[in-house]
Amino acid sequence: MTDSWVNSAEILGSDLPLELSGTGNRRAVLMAALRDAVRSGRLAPGTRLPPYRSLAADLGLARNTVADAYAELVAEGWLAARQGSGTRVAERAVPVTPVHRPRTPERAARPVHDLVQGQPDPSVFPRTAWLASARRALAAAPDDAFGPGDPHGRPELRRALAGYLARVRGVRAAPERIVLCSGAAHGLRLLAEVVGGPWAAEEYGLPFHRELLASHGVGTRPLHVDADGARVDGLTRRDRAVLLTPAHQFPTGGPLHPARRAAVVDWARATGGLVVEDDYDGEFRYDRQPVGAVQGLDPEHVALLGSVSKSLSPTLRIGWMVLPQRLVASVVAVKGEREQWSSATEQLTLADFVESGAYDRQVRRMRQRHRRRRDQLVAALERRAPHVRVTGIAAGLHAVLELPPGTERSAVRAAAWQGLAVEGLADYLHPGAERAGRAEGARGASNAGPAGPADAAAGVPGRDGLVVGYATPAESAYPEALEALCRALPPG
Ligand SMILES: Cc1ncc(COP(=O)(O)O)c(C=O)c1O
Repeated sequence: MTDSWVNSAEILGSDLPLELSGTGNRRAVLMAALRDAVRSGRLAPGTRLPPYRSLAADLGLARNTVADAYAELVAEGWLAARQGSGTRVAERAVPVTPVHRPRTPERAARPVHDLVQGQPDPSVFPRTAWLASARRALAAAPDDAFGPGDPHGRPELRRALAGYLARVRGVRAAPERIVLCSGAAHGLRLLAEVVGGPWAAEEYGLPFHRELLASHGVGTRPLHVDADGARVDGLTRRDRAVLLTPAHQFPTGGPLHPARRAAVVDWARATGGLVVEDDYDGEFRYDRQPVGAVQGLDPEHVALLGSVSKSLSPTLRIGWMVLPQRLVASVVAVKGEREQWSSATEQLTLADFVESGAYDRQVRRMRQRHRRRRDQLVAALERRAPHVRVTGIAAGLHAVLELPPGTERSAVRAAAWQGLAVEGLADYLHPGAERAGRAEGARGASNAGPAGPADAAAGVPGRDGLVVGYATPAESAYPEALEALCRALPPG
């Protein structure tokens, strides 16, 4: 335990989130923030600061600005620089307020490292290219762009997305079938209102999505997931819709088997049900060409949801729905008379970003970066925890580490003690899923697609595992986050 506290000082040395409030000279603002951090005890005496290059990259500052700030704080006595060991908080940094770091699980609430899956590293948002697109888009925008918005969303973006999604995801979409929304969550809410319940959903999925559907009166029933994705042979006539992540099952990580893709479309045709395809990270595939969208098989029975949340930033709140013709009018009607969910100027900016090729460039850049991160994760595990199997690594921004039965909770707790936030597979499991899985598994193969090999043999995570998001930490913080992860894993 003592070790973990010592380590936390080291960890802080590498990842230093700072609030740079105030305007004016950036060096002075940074110095004030660092002094505050020392004064408040957040940076304890002896804590190693990040190399000025990485702090500059993380904070979006010039390297000289950070180097100068460090040098001045050394001169003032707040920091100490020693050859070979970088810059540290001085042992007698003023004032000497005792630093209380209670040994309680409170540390879990303020983790030093973040490997919770979810979002890309915010420091790599393409600010310059986005600004260039915003400038061009605003200069070219017709006057009506500044009036009340059409709930379909800006036509410029719907046209740009129709081309992009056809080219990259195999989506069949005329711009008239695309309705813009503020993200997949918004799309689900609209579909819940239009389609009604009940729905089936993969037994592993985002709890937030299930809760959101429930809050709109749509209950979900879990579908067992095995090595070939969701067991769509569990669908019935009662299900009004099924929520799937076919390109990259969330979060277990495999693609939906081709026979099951065909089978789910057959189910929709036979019953009038709707396939809701959450295409949340379809562009990020590392081992081969992306798996095309199921929507391309039958645009009249599949509603595809996508957004820029994984590719650019979840804060933009721009998403899209590619809808069967019969649903367009009702979805737009539910959305309201005016666009009130995402800004028209942001939509125009994204349209330019896509049309100019900047979106493709950013996705390519991010794909390389995520692949590198994934390789680092796999290498660290091979070195430090060869007994832990890592799955779901062919795509996306996260992987699953399979753990021995009964060890997931303790691994999550151990991670918290290492200052690391990470989630277990159980956090994603549909309530009641265990029972559903056994019942469907017992039925064996059916005419609705192959059942897939037994879970244990096929590499589907068993019931114990960690979902590791490798995209979020800043570049300089990632190696330390991996170290903390390895320390938290159960011994082999
Ligand atoms: C499974 C899944 N679907 C969709 C999304 C995107 O949601 P939204 O577009 O509402 O930000 C996420 C998170 O980014 C996700 O994890």
